[in-house]
Amino acid sequence: MKNVQLYDKNFKLYLTHDQILKAVDEVAKKINSDYSTEDKPIFLGVLTGCFMFLGDLMKRIEVDCEICFIRLASYEGTSSTGKVKQMLGLTQSVRGRNVIVVEDIVDTGNTIMELDQILKDAGARSIRYASLLLKPNNYKGTLNVDYPALSIPNDFIVGYGLDYDQIGRNLKDIYVLDIEETERRKSINIE
Ligand code: IMP
Ligand code: MG
Repeated sequence: MKNVQLYDKNFKLYLTHDQILKAVDEVAKKINSDYSTEDKPIFLGVLTGCFMFLGDLMKRIEVDCEICFIRLASYEGTSSTGKVKQMLGLTQSVRGRNVIVVEDIVDTGNTIMELDQILKDAGARSIRYASLLLKPNNYKGTLNVDYPALSIPNDFIVGYGLDYDQIGRNLKDIYVLDIEETERRKSINIE
């Protein structure tokens, strides 16, 4: 599919499933070389957007590891509210553990900055960040994203776990907001 429409917005193909999986391969390779079975890392998926990335990443991890989740939310529609809400707490203790956070996308960095504090308070031994996507021009955090799979411009995207007002997460490719087409359709409807 080259184009999709979600509610009032049009999106165009941006990254194919194959391109995404190549980037996931690279992240998995790095994690496999940085961690051993003795480290027994815990992958902490940040719901909801992480689920596809986490699924494909975990199939490629070769060291013994555990998986848990937390649910944070900061976006409404197509922009960040600047506030991070905790919708579901840590599903498992991380005290003394090596945590690898798995995010769909790091945008302003508010979410991972907040999460870092939550994990420190919870007694994590080490904390690293893996993110499928990174918007470096929007990033205002002070933490290093250790495993960024792909860097993208400041455009709004959907698919492969990422949503527009909760829909579009099931798309296997990633799509970018097509502002011109969205405006064109809007003007036709109004006339
Ligand atoms: P941050 O707190 O600004 O870094 O934003 C992180 C969260 O905002 C991500 O985990 C996503 O849930 C959401 N987000 C940021 N950019 C996008 C986007 O382009 N499309 C969909 N969700 C996004
Ligand atoms: Mg998210």
